[in-house]
Amino acid sequence: MKISTRLNHPPSVAVPADNRPLVAPIYQSVKFTFDNVEETERQSLGQREGFQYSRVSNPTLEQLSQTLAELQGRDECLLTASGVAAVNLALLALCKQGDHVILFAEMYQPTRYMIRRVLSRYGVTHTMLSIEDVEGIEQTLANEPTRLVIFESPTNPVLKIADIERITAAARKHGALTVLDNTFAGFHNHGQFDIDVFVHSLTKYASGHGDVMGGAVIARSELIAQMRQDFIVIGATLDPHAAYLIQRGLKTYTLRYERQCANALQIARFLETHPKVERVVYPGMSSHPQHQLAQRQMHDCGAMVSLDLKPGVSAAAFANALELFVMAASVGSTESLVQPGQLMKPRGLNAQEQEWAAVTDQTMRLSVGVEDADDLIADLEQALNAAPVI
Ligand SMILES: Cc1ncc(COP(=O)(O)O)c(C=O)c1O
Repeated sequence: MKISTRLNHPPSVAVPADNRPLVAPIYQSVKFTFDNVEETERQSLGQREGFQYSRVSNPTLEQLSQTLAELQGRDECLLTASGVAAVNLALLALCKQGDHVILFAEMYQPTRYMIRRVLSRYGVTHTMLSIEDVEGIEQTLANEPTRLVIFESPTNPVLKIADIERITAAARKHGALTVLDNTFAGFHNHGQFDIDVFVHSLTKYASGHGDVMGGAVIARSELIAQMRQDFIVIGATLDPHAAYLIQRGLKTYTLRYERQCANALQIARFLETHPKVERVVYPGMSSHPQHQLAQRQMHDCGAMVSLDLKPGVSAAAFANALELFVMAASVGSTESLVQPGQLMKPRGLNAQEQEWAAVTDQTMRLSVGVEDADDLIADLEQALNAAPVI
């Protein structure tokens, strides 16, 4: 064999079946081969196990998808290149021309965009409500045949809690599917409810370290089977290296999440005492209008805290003065992040919808990290004290 041939056909190293690596290796291979045509065809026809092409399936992704499906308490999981790709896959694969979708003004902006601006081009209609308007949801479901209701709980960024039991019951009664973007609550929450499809951004708490993007669609097998072929041809598949990093991040998921929730509660308690703070929104505080609902529905109350500064307190000066809270998009990293309302203003909403969305220039979203709570509180305190009243 000449060098150029050898370099393209390196020796293979077999690992004995009873000699397993403790950490599963990354199968950074697009292609998988069988010994002959017959076995290749049998695998294509689903008559034997195995892999052929990583856009369709890959062992590293398989391990992660099994882990996530089990964590969320459903049968199967499709992994996508980002959280947005997971939301979009669920919408594209489950809706067809003429279908009607219910969405909410409080939702993540790209989800609203996808339904209002993209799916509408393909003949999917929608009704946008407030997630607090459960009667409106029930009425709309009763009046209009609806394919699916897509929602979040807690919502991004103002942490409203959806009444999941009532929403799922109404949807079931009228034959609509429910899709819950469970990114903020996490995999350990909401599995007990009658949700048809969970979507997650793995970019957030699953990976946890802000260095990798990914998404997941998790559902019972029958629904995953409906979505799988579209998933394969849409092509927004997760890369094996990203899957490996997310699987690694998951090892500390519960440790991180518990610490982040405990820090969030302490921070929310501190903020409520500060004279420059108008309102603190944390589902774990009795001051949250849906505190009881959050306590009934969730094992914990999440690691996001939202606040409104008093009118006249310079929000930009407060955000600029923070030293440990890094001003950055996204949430769920080990380091604490801040996002001012000025940078999160919902676009394309009318006055009523903006009121529901409840993001103003005085709003601040805090994604609480795993740092020491006292240090985080000291940082918030010095920044609040530094912020001038204009
Ligand atoms: C609730 C929610 N869903 C989905 C996404 C999209 O995730 P990604 O950035 O991984 O595409 C985000 C991102 O901020 C989010 O907050």
